[in-house]
Amino acid sequence: MLANSCLLWLLAVTFLVPRAKPLTPGDLEEEEGEDEDEESQQPSSTCDYDHCRHLQVPCKELQKAHRCLCPGLTRPEQRPLPPRLGEVSLQAEAGSALVHWCAPASPVHQYWLLLWADGGPPQKSPPFNSTFRRAEVKGLQAGSTYNVCVVAANKAGESQEAKPLAEGLGKGAGGPAFGPCGRFTMPPRPLSLVHAAVGVGTALALLSCSALVWHFCLRDRWGCPRRL
Ligand SMILES: *[C@@H]1O[C@H](CO)[C@@H](O)[C@H](O)[C@H]1NC(C)=O
Repeated sequence: MLANSCLLWLLAVTFLVPRAKPLTPGDLEEEEGEDEDEESQQPSSTCDYDHCRHLQVPCKELQKAHRCLCPGLTRPEQRPLPPRLGEVSLQAEAGSALVHWCAPASPVHQYWLLLWADGGPPQKSPPFNSTFRRAEVKGLQAGSTYNVCVVAANKAGESQEAKPLAEGLGKGAGGPAFGPCGRFTMPPRPLSLVHAAVGVGTALALLSCSALVWHFCLRDRWGCPRRL
């Protein structure tokens, strides 16, 4: 009897005490790798994930590697929310624009851009994989105004269509709003800027010449005080 209760007590000590131990936070981190501790290994830090960073690895992959926290996403059976258009940097000389965007809080398989000049039909860019946050559009005409929308797509379909949103674009002239679409105007060709600069320079030179001529003519007509 005594031996039995001793044995029970020993069993209780060996099995119950180590289980009770991980309750102190300091021990939690050292207990990694034990199956029974899965529940206590709650990720404590947020993942190094930036939804606007180009070539950003999906947060789910970071989560697997680092056991960190990801922002919540809409369900994969739902169409993605629209991405947010970011900065559009214009490269006047190249006739191109670098379009930035930020990922929506949804699972995304790919992105593409829609681009159209006022009154023209929208042109669809090739698709970009889910890590992309910027793309270059080329062949833009100097001095023309363009509309651009970023579309996200997953198995369930594509993000809210650009057309109805684009109609509202006229109100917010200029910079991108908080939606997936924006509007920009390419600057005039740099060459014509050079021409304009040369023109202004010539005009200034002519003006100062005529001022000098006028000045000397006047002096001759009225006579120079020194010659008297
Ligand atoms: C996405 O495209 C980039 C650049 O082409 C490539 O480096 C990356 O491996 C691709 N990622 C996926 C998940 O396909």
